[in-house]
Amino acid sequence: MAKPFIKWVGGKYTLANELKKHLPNNFDELDYIEPMLGGAGMFFNLQPKKAILSDINKKLIITYKSIQNNVEGVISELKKHELNHKTNEDYFYDVREYFNKGCETREGLAAAFIYLNKTNFNGLYRVNSKGEFNVPKGRTTSGSVTICDEKVLKNCSDLLKGVELYWKSYEDALKDLNKHCFVYLDPPYLPQTDVSFTKYSKDGFSVEDHKILSTHCKDLSERGIKFMMSNAENDYTHDIYGDFTIKPLTVYHSLGPDKKTRKKAKECIITNY
Ligand SMILES: C[S@@+](CC[C@H](N)C(=O)[O-])C[C@H]1O[C@@H](n2cnc3c(N)ncnc32)[C@H](O)[C@@H]1O
Repeated sequence: MAKPFIKWVGGKYTLANELKKHLPNNFDELDYIEPMLGGAGMFFNLQPKKAILSDINKKLIITYKSIQNNVEGVISELKKHELNHKTNEDYFYDVREYFNKGCETREGLAAAFIYLNKTNFNGLYRVNSKGEFNVPKGRTTSGSVTICDEKVLKNCSDLLKGVELYWKSYEDALKDLNKHCFVYLDPPYLPQTDVSFTKYSKDGFSVEDHKILSTHCKDLSERGIKFMMSNAENDYTHDIYGDFTIKPLTVYHSLGPDKKTRKKAKECIITNY
């Protein structure tokens, strides 16, 4: 089981072994499609023979492609960040500005992405209305986080060889699939029915967005394509995804960034098989 090179909100690295139990029986015969990739916790665990991976986050996909095609270049840039981070208190904000200006090379962007992910507040990825990354520096002391983990980066690069990577919405990613494909969907979770007034998750994926996603799931079923989705389990889940099989998991996911005040919420697997 390989470790992802970034941490990601809702990341499935620690849950992947549990989720694997719910894959279809003929999983090994199918092409693996993951259109809401994030940190790719499932992909790195499953290591499928053929994979098509995508996400709506452009800089995330550039980072994956850089790791895939020039991991040594990314490592060399990341080592510079690691060194400067130890000696310069404000270095995080210099890199954030550089990242928001676009960076000079794809490897430079990937290294900045990974550096910010390792040193920011809880590994969040959030942008303002101008599309600028605005997560503040995390609380960790400079020595306590491995910024450049060469072994993990090189292993991820090996596992990404031959994989198709795209910057696109999940809607586009689902268009050209056939029944030899299996889709794993991991959207930003449905909000808790009792706590959410706005009905928006923090990632901007609303209850309405989930209703639209469920129509795409129905379309997959009509085309004979198997899918599995991770989601929160609450009243919304049964209203919106009630046409599918909903299996509650015995694990819970955490709500909120602060470890001390985090609440636990139920989690489930939704499948059409
Ligand atoms: C919960 S995260 C996925 C976590 C991932 N499974 C992991 O192990 O790290 C959800 C992902 O969906 C992506 N996303 C949100 N809306 C999307 C859309 N409309 N199309 C494609 N990807 C989308 C986000 O950028 C984010 O990376």
